[in-house]
Amino acid sequence: MSSEKVTVERIRAMKSRGEKIAALTAYDFPMTKLLDEAGIPFIHVGDSLGMVVLGYPDTTHVTMADMEHHMRAAARAKPRALLAADLPYQSYETVADAVANARRLVAAGADAVKAEGGRSILEQVRAIVAAGIPYCGHLGMQPQHVREEGGYKIKGRTESEREALFADAEALAGAGAFALVLEIVTPPVARELTQRISIPTISIGSGDDCDGQILVTSDLIGMFPWFTPRFVKPRMDCAGEIKKAVAAWKNSFTQS
Ligand code: KIV
Repeated sequence: MSSEKVTVERIRAMKSRGEKIAALTAYDFPMTKLLDEAGIPFIHVGDSLGMVVLGYPDTTHVTMADMEHHMRAAARAKPRALLAADLPYQSYETVADAVANARRLVAAGADAVKAEGGRSILEQVRAIVAAGIPYCGHLGMQPQHVREEGGYKIKGRTESEREALFADAEALAGAGAFALVLEIVTPPVARELTQRISIPTISIGSGDDCDGQILVTSDLIGMFPWFTPRFVKPRMDCAGEIKKAVAAWKNSFTQS
């Protein structure tokens, strides 16, 4: 594997070469370093950190200060991977806020930013791209809207949802997004969208036919055992291993 920094051009080229894109989240120095050493080309400091690190009930509690703090920690790992960060809830309501907050994340070490929405935030996306900041879209279930939507609902089930997804995806690609995360979109719609748009699609619970896959690393490694999304098959039981190691250490000197 090359030791060159992964750029957004490289991520885009992976689609044309038919190379699958593996992306994972990290919120701190050691995990960023480990994922980078494992060869993950796209590491995302997601606002999922609100739940899996900070103990909030959903991502709507995550602030810019939270994101900057974790972004700086991840960036200290100086990964070869492209390092993206989420613009948190209500940090991109206006064009001015979107650009200012995207710049703050870049100053904290992000190579790219991601926000949730399509045509409704197109002016913000255009302005971020015009400011020279690489932008990744996020469509389908948008966790920052979980409270209005009353839960994490699958998208693309109706014709109107399918059409809205296509229109939003095309608008984002046209505005200069370099990739698009699709969250719990029905697999046939995610597949069709992947075939139709020029930029890579990255699935989270949207089936296997996108150009890449992204997961919350804590889900993948069983580090947040109190809730695991249905589409994730944890590859290890990190929480169980921690409890075993802690109990073994404790027993080694408390039981004689
Ligand atoms: O917040 C997050 O971690 C995300 C994902 C797509 C994994 O947005």
